[in-house]
Amino acid sequence: MGIFYCEKDGTFTLQTKNTTYQMKADRQGTLLHTYYGQKTDRTDKSYWICCRDRGFSGNPYGMDRAYSLDTLPQEYSCFGTGDYRISALKVKNTDGSAASALRYVSHEITEGKYSLPGLPAAYGTKEEAQTLIVTLQDCATNLKVELYYGVLEEVDLFTRAVRITNDGEGNIVLQKAASMSIDWQSGAYDRLTFCGRHTMERNPERARITHGVQSVGSVRGTSSHQSNPFMMICDESTTEEQGDCYGFSFVYSGEFLMETEKDQTEQTRLVCGIHPDNFEWTLEPGESFVTPEVLMAYGKGFGAVSRIFHEAIREHICRGEWKHKRRPVLINNWEGTYFDFTGDRLVDIAQEAAALGVELFVMDDGWFGRRDDDNSGLGDWYPNEEKLGCTLQELGERITALGMGFGIWFEPEGISEDSDLYRAHPEWAVRIPGRKPCLSRNQLVLDFSRKDVQDYVIDRLKAVLSQAPISYVKWDFNRSICDKYSDALPKERQGEMAHRFVLGLYRVLEELIRAFPHILFEGCSGGGGRFDAGMLYYTPQIWCSDNTDAIERLKIQYGTSFGYPVSTMGSHVSAVPNHQTGRITPLSTRGCVAMAGNFGYELDVNRMTEAEKTKGREQIALFKKHYDLIQYGSYYRLCSPFAGTVTVWETVSPDGTEALVSAVYHHVQSNPAPVYVRLGGLREDRMYRLELIGVREECTLPVNDGEDIFGQGQILSGAALMHCGLMVPEALNGFQAWQIYLQAQ
Ligand code: DGJ
Repeated sequence: MGIFYCEKDGTFTLQTKNTTYQMKADRQGTLLHTYYGQKTDRTDKSYWICCRDRGFSGNPYGMDRAYSLDTLPQEYSCFGTGDYRISALKVKNTDGSAASALRYVSHEITEGKYSLPGLPAAYGTKEEAQTLIVTLQDCATNLKVELYYGVLEEVDLFTRAVRITNDGEGNIVLQKAASMSIDWQSGAYDRLTFCGRHTMERNPERARITHGVQSVGSVRGTSSHQSNPFMMICDESTTEEQGDCYGFSFVYSGEFLMETEKDQTEQTRLVCGIHPDNFEWTLEPGESFVTPEVLMAYGKGFGAVSRIFHEAIREHICRGEWKHKRRPVLINNWEGTYFDFTGDRLVDIAQEAAALGVELFVMDDGWFGRRDDDNSGLGDWYPNEEKLGCTLQELGERITALGMGFGIWFEPEGISEDSDLYRAHPEWAVRIPGRKPCLSRNQLVLDFSRKDVQDYVIDRLKAVLSQAPISYVKWDFNRSICDKYSDALPKERQGEMAHRFVLGLYRVLEELIRAFPHILFEGCSGGGGRFDAGMLYYTPQIWCSDNTDAIERLKIQYGTSFGYPVSTMGSHVSAVPNHQTGRITPLSTRGCVAMAGNFGYELDVNRMTEAEKTKGREQIALFKKHYDLIQYGSYYRLCSPFAGTVTVWETVSPDGTEALVSAVYHHVQSNPAPVYVRLGGLREDRMYRLELIGVREECTLPVNDGEDIFGQGQILSGAALMHCGLMVPEALNGFQAWQIYLQAQ
């Protein structure tokens, strides 16, 4: 039981294993937020709300000058009726006014986790989850707002979403319909956001929450490379392992806004939802709108909160056959050939890769229509048999005859002006009549808000996926969306297009994963431009970045790990000099970094030396041997790639009896000071044998290397490793990697 209602004091207390969330309908019916944090008893926490007469903070109940919506901590803040802080809800009423004021009406508690029609959401059985729906109403307009709460007790996860219904007589226009708001009555907080750009996604940035409004978001049609819909809010003193930390993950792949505001009385508010700049949704009488969901977690330290999200996403967002099925080690031909390939060349690569132990061959961009560069052909999802030299079925059969799976790339939302599809259906491209559309990568966007477009894409992809033995799809999208307009919507509903586009995408994905449950779908948007919990509901892994440089990847994967598990991050070994940075790193380092994800290769194996192939074979065998530990282990960030000389991370098996510590030098010094790390998650009372594993490069430097430290199979206690620490072996060469395997004796 995770949800408790106390009729006497009007409190709703939501409990998980280690956390408590509480709200209360006060005597006026306002739903106040009273607590979120470490687990407590269920007593009413409203005792610490400070009500006093503050000038210029108005009073809805005239005579009580101490009662103001402008200072009370709210559960779902509204615009226009005296709360001057950022709001979750802003509407245009039938009379043109923009005000709403919500009062408690009723509530309902049910077993199991609610789901959201047409939207991704965490799921949980009756044994795993409970749902609370609190119904609020604006008495003046009869707008009904149902606040949904999911409680996943064992995972320490709460979820929130909102359903808004027009129970009035005329149209109401939603101008902002956030999925949640929350107020902290006391405390001084920092926010950790994950911003970046193409080929440098999800760089963590920590900033003080100051007075006024700060926000991150996207108006790019997708969640974007530039900011990720995940935020942590923490004490100023919070570290990886200690201090209050809250995490919020928006389960949505479109435009979002996450705003924080510190107000006049030092309270902090967070509002999270669909970005209002491209959003306006008309509700006719009787119609409803459902917002996407937010996942919320609290813990001590960033690490603890990350581990909650890892489990939540792995076990309650990712679905289908591939949720727990071993993901194949793959080879993708993109950086190996780009557009320059034939069927024979692909089979050559696949054949060499199969000999190394690679299990899946993925044919990337360029197999369809007229597509020898990125200027044409998008939308023409018909195999180019002339280029391939055979049919898709024949190619698939040649690959699968090697004992490998066969995978294929699509960019279903893309359309080239130079394509048969565009020539037949120019109205299917997103563009504003009378305006020249803005091209990006010389392509336009297919209007996924249209049902006819969705149906066409579903049918065409089904036809391709049925004509060859395909077991994997890479679902790419290579531009941001602007010029938002849909020929299929009336002018007063153009504000619905951006969200309808995302709903259309979800519908297409849902149809395809249902029709082909055995196919592993990998998300991608120019790398990690749509790396969010929404996409992970459909595609259990996502290509993390178009940047395959191992040293740059340390930062990208480190940032990504704050909100997403290793099992979701596509990560490949590519050739050197690296195609994005020109950097040369050892193969062992590239392998070590790529193994912290869904491991694969992205190069022409025929160009590897025999020595490299031998190392590759060993790498793949090592990854397969430790697959469960890497994919399902608890993840600890031990040293950041943004500081010092070495990035270190650790995965520990759920029972704490084995662990893998990986270390990569991103900076090599002469005469370096020793680097120590304290491990996490081990069992204090157990002894662990330490073993250096992984492919290593030759070295002649006189350093304190791993062999000196671990060569004899050193045995240390869990308590020593966690409290005293472990010395990381020195770097033998530039960008040295070490992998240390620990097994309890
Ligand atoms: C962007 C992806 O991230 C790459 O891996 C590759 O698939 C290209 N698109 C192909 O156009």
